[in-house]
Amino acid sequence: MLDSAKPKTATVTIDDQTFEMPILSGSTGPDVIDIRKLYGQSGAFTYDPGFTSTAACESSITYIDGDEGVLLHRGYPIEQLAGKSHYLEVCYLLLYGELPSGPELEDFEERVTMHTMLHEQMYNFTRGFRRDAHPMAIMNGMVGAMSAFYHDSTDITDPWQREVASIRMIAKMPTIAAMAYKYSIGQPFVYPRNDLGYAANFLNMCFSVPAQDYVVDPILARAMDRIFTLHADHEQNASTSTVRLASSSGANPFACIAAGIACLWGPAHGGANQACLEMLREIGTADRIPEFIGRAKDKDDPFRLMGFGHRVYKNHDPRATVMKESADEVLELLGVEDNPTLQVAKELERQALEDPYFRDKKLFPNVDFYSGIILEAMGFPTSMFTPIFALSRTVGWISQWKEQLSDPSLKIGRPRQLYTGETKRDYVEVEDRG
Ligand code: ACO
Repeated sequence: MLDSAKPKTATVTIDDQTFEMPILSGSTGPDVIDIRKLYGQSGAFTYDPGFTSTAACESSITYIDGDEGVLLHRGYPIEQLAGKSHYLEVCYLLLYGELPSGPELEDFEERVTMHTMLHEQMYNFTRGFRRDAHPMAIMNGMVGAMSAFYHDSTDITDPWQREVASIRMIAKMPTIAAMAYKYSIGQPFVYPRNDLGYAANFLNMCFSVPAQDYVVDPILARAMDRIFTLHADHEQNASTSTVRLASSSGANPFACIAAGIACLWGPAHGGANQACLEMLREIGTADRIPEFIGRAKDKDDPFRLMGFGHRVYKNHDPRATVMKESADEVLELLGVEDNPTLQVAKELERQALEDPYFRDKKLFPNVDFYSGIILEAMGFPTSMFTPIFALSRTVGWISQWKEQLSDPSLKIGRPRQLYTGETKRDYVEVEDRG
C-alpha cells in the first residue's frame, strides 16, 4: 500500500527566495534535513564547524541517544553485549549486521586466529623506530606500512580483498600493539599463540617473556575483553569520520585506518585515557581535588577535567558505568582496592557531579575515566592506553569503512568553507613592499 502521508520538508528563506528541503527519517533518532541541493539551488553553503548539527552519512551500525545515555550496536544495548557477549562476537555483529550462529562464530574466530601473525619483514621494519618512540607513533607507522606488506588486499573494488583486509586488520592489531609495547621497553617480541583467546593472546604478547612461563588470569582476560568490547565502535566520532573521509577518495584500507589512529591520538579523543590517568596522579590526594575542580571551571585556565564530558552523551556514558564495575572487579582481584588513584577518581567523580558547573553543563565521566585505572592495575604503562583503544576501535573503523564502500551514494568528502581572508589583490615586487 502506498503511504499517502505528505513527505516532511523544511523551508529555507534567503532574501525573498524560498527553498524547500526534504526531511529524511531514520529508524530512530532525530530527522535530518537533506540539504544536498541547497548550494545548487541557492548558492549558499551551510556552516557547522565541529559538525554539531550535521549528519555526514547514512549508517546502520551504531546508534547513540546522548540524552538518554543509550548506545546500541546493530540494535543491541552495550550493557548486554558487555555482560553477555565477547569482543570477537561483537566484531562479527558490527561487521556483518547480525549475531553469528555457533558455527559462524567458530569460523570467524578461526579466520581471525589464523591471521594474527605479521609478515616477518614487519619485525625488521619495527626495529627501525627510535627506541623511545611512543607506542602510538609506532602503531600508526606500522598500520600505514601494512599497505607495503599486504599488496594483495589493497584493491577496494574487490569484495574478497576487502574481506581479507578486514580480517587481517582485526587479527593483527593486537600483535602490532604488543610489538609497539615490547619495543618501547626493550624486550623481545612475543609471537601470537593460537591456543589463546583474543584478549588472552594480547595479554600474553604484552607480558610474557622467553625466560619464564606466564599464565594469563582468566579474570584479567575477561576484563581486557570487556575494555575491547566497550570501545569497539561509537558511530561517527572524530577518528571514524577521519577513516570515512580518507576512504572517500578510494584510499586503501590500511592507509584509512592509519588516518583513524592519527586522529584518535589527540587528548580530546582517544588520548584522553592517558591524559586522565596522568591528571589523577597529579592530583594525588583527595584534599587537592577542589583546587583542580576550581581550575577546570576557570575560563582563563585551559585545564579541563580529563575523562569528563562528551560531545554526544549529555546524561551519562553507558560505557563508563560498565567500566566502573570492571574497575572494582579487577582491583579486587589484584588486591589493590585501596589504589590511591582509584580513590582520587571516585572522590573526584563525586565532587564534580555535585558541582553546579558540571551538572549544568551536563558533564559526566566518560568511558576513559575508569579504563586507565584498570589498565594501570593490569600492568600497562599510560603510553599503552591509547594504542589499546586503537586496537579495540579497529573493528568499528573497518565496519564503517566497509559500509561506506557499499553505499551507492558514495562521493569524495569535500567540505566547503566560510572564507574570511583577503579578496583578490595584485602581487607587489619585494622592493616595493613597505
Ligand atoms: N572540564 C571542564 N569543562 C569542560 C569539560 C571538562 N572536561 N568538557 C567540557 N567543558 C565545558 C567547556 O569549557 C564548555 O564550557 P562553556 O559552555 O562555558 O564554553 C562546555 O563544557 C561545553 O564543552 P565543549 O568543549 O564545547 O563540548 P564539546 O562537545 O565540543 O567537547 C569534549 C567534548 C572534547 C569531549 C570535552 O568535553 C573535553 O575536552 N573533555 C575532556 C577530554 C576527554 O575526556 N575526552 C574523551 C572524550 S570520550 C572519547 O573520545 C572516547
